[in-house]
Amino acid sequence: MTIGELLDALWRDYVATTPQAERIHRVLAERGERIVNDHVALRTYGLPGIGMDALARPFEALGWRVQPDRYRFDDKKLVARYWKHDDPALPKVFISELCVTELSPAANQIIDYLVRQLPSRFGERTDLPWAGRPWTVRRAEYESLLLESEYAAWVAAFGFRVNHFTVLVNALTTFPDLESLNAFLIEYGFTLSDAGGVIKGSPEQLLEQSSTRADSIEVDFAGERMRVPSCYYEFARRYPLPSGEMFHGFVPTSADKIFESTDVNPSASRSSR
Ligand code: NI
Repeated sequence: MTIGELLDALWRDYVATTPQAERIHRVLAERGERIVNDHVALRTYGLPGIGMDALARPFEALGWRVQPDRYRFDDKKLVARYWKHDDPALPKVFISELCVTELSPAANQIIDYLVRQLPSRFGERTDLPWAGRPWTVRRAEYESLLLESEYAAWVAAFGFRVNHFTVLVNALTTFPDLESLNAFLIEYGFTLSDAGGVIKGSPEQLLEQSSTRADSIEVDFAGERMRVPSCYYEFARRYPLPSGEMFHGFVPTSADKIFESTDVNPSASRSSR
């Protein structure tokens, strides 16, 4: 597999569950923009064989290398790392995993039931990052996971696929800042996530981010179909470090809020926590 084929497969799988991403891509292209992708983000359960290491393997085989930074999101019981390629034109890969053992026994029982359905050596598939959902999940199980962890429920519903692509705002030529891009998107009828404010981060933190609210699509729950939030599109403006080198990392407090772009009930904002 080539890098182009890998990124293509990820994009095709992503727009199938995130129709708004293709529309945003189109309205920006019509304006004359050429979109550079800052990062793709993937989610998984932190379990042997299917954790972030397994998801990273197909990227590592093509030259992405893990970076030393380790992020932890206590509230959401997540850890994350990112991978970077020597070719600066290629997106970074941000992978998070749920610390499953920190969830309740009931949630563990559901996740265990899902994972037991995996064919042997599933985590070794070279197409793992877009393998989709390899298990059957019932609506009741999805909903009980949802009560405890939106992230656990999302992975149960969607399995292995990109959660979001990210437009690098610095590479846009007709938007001076993130505010003007956000205003443009709102004008075109897109809804932005406002968990923790529309813009997360600041120039001082060297990264500003915004994102759409996740599309919702119909998902099959053992024969019962229900609309649930799928994936969203993210926008990132980066700032240089004092050394002059661009900051390529992530800001945990901002990422924490960005995760909420796929929350089922956004009005139940957790910003008070
Ligand atoms: Ni992101």
